Amino acid sequence: MTPKRPARPHYARRHPADPLTPYGNRPMVTPIVNAVNYEYLDFEVLRQITDGEIDGYTYHRDDNPTVRAVEKLIAALESAEDCVVCTTGMAACTMVYLTYLRAGGHLILFHDIYGAHYKVSLILERLGVEVSWVDAADWKGLERHIKPNTQMIFLETPSNPLCKVIDVAAVKAMARRVGAMVVVDNTFATPYHQKPLALGADLVIHSATKALGGHNDLMAGAIAGSKKDYDELWFTRQAIGTTLDAYSASLLERGLKTFPLRAERMAANAMAVARHLVRCRGISDVRYPGLRDFDGHRAAARQMKHGFGGMMAFEVGNDQEDAKRFVSALRVIRHAVSLGSTESLICIPFLTTMLYMPPERRTTFGVKPNTVRLSVGVEPVAHLLEDIDQALRSVKKRSRS
Ligand SMILES: Cc1ncc(COP(=O)(O)O)c(C=O)c1O
Repeated sequence: MTPKRPARPHYARRHPADPLTPYGNRPMVTPIVNAVNYEYLDFEVLRQITDGEIDGYTYHRDDNPTVRAVEKLIAALESAEDCVVCTTGMAACTMVYLTYLRAGGHLILFHDIYGAHYKVSLILERLGVEVSWVDAADWKGLERHIKPNTQMIFLETPSNPLCKVIDVAAVKAMARRVGAMVVVDNTFATPYHQKPLALGADLVIHSATKALGGHNDLMAGAIAGSKKDYDELWFTRQAIGTTLDAYSASLLERGLKTFPLRAERMAANAMAVARHLVRCRGISDVRYPGLRDFDGHRAAARQMKHGFGGMMAFEVGNDQEDAKRFVSALRVIRHAVSLGSTESLICIPFLTTMLYMPPERRTTFGVKPNTVRLSVGVEPVAHLLEDIDQALRSVKKRSRS
């Protein structure tokens, strides 16, 4: 049972001591409200809060005004009715699983999703949830995996790390047959390019640690959907305590101010980098949804607007040693995990993001030991292209010597 929530969104109402308007006018930046608890001015205020007549605050695990401000911003970005923000992207995914799956229910996951889902799937299996794994390249055959007890289909498009593209509307049409919900992790695409709810998804998830925050300085997760979903997910967050701290929420709010500018620049840079890589000797299988001859290009062009995001994957040389040499020789592009930040970041998924998986699972969906994942940042594009060229030259020089 979900606890009572105020009927009107709280921003439409004034708390007697509304921290967003303490001076009678509004500060340009949402104040960081670092309070764990809130003093009741009298018992009538407590009653009004409890009955949902005013949107006062009680305890940080329940709600926080700095967090609430970013929830509204992300809801607007995803054209959602509301949004729940939490501590990390994986916390967001786990909250969704815990809220909507039941013992005896069936969850379909694509191999091509962030590696930590594998660990979470083991926990879900211990709780009695049946889990099936499907290759995103085979999404058209998804029907075969859907069962009467399928409760949720969880996907990323473009996927991490190979950028496979899944048609969200087509998946929703298949899911509808058994009343399963479709959840889309939109971290790779970002809401600047793709709005999964408009494509038919029931919920959209973000690792806000990535492009929404954008500066490698905060961790957060977000789940956007209907008001009903907000209430259900709020219940889970309040119960398990995955509420984001106010300072991170404030950093996230700051990141969101430049998010569209960064997203536009990253996509433009990424397109130039991908076109360049295709022409480079020593680089193969460049996987970027914006390339016309990429498998998922047509579906991506239908689903994504204003470009194709900043993420891509490609193979370097013939083996992992070649990939390691290339990554080590880069000077502008930084060797680090994570993605979506102002700096371009590169990593070898086999050695980093896929460590969560047992070795035999790592190759099942096409990732190779020499596959690298590149998150293109906002640097001048010429610097990125020069960096790639000089790194390739030094790899070739070393392999000749
Ligand atoms: C696509 C995607 N979803 C979710 C996550 C998990 O996010 P977090 O690290 O904020 O928990 C990641 C992390 O890299 C990711 O790449």
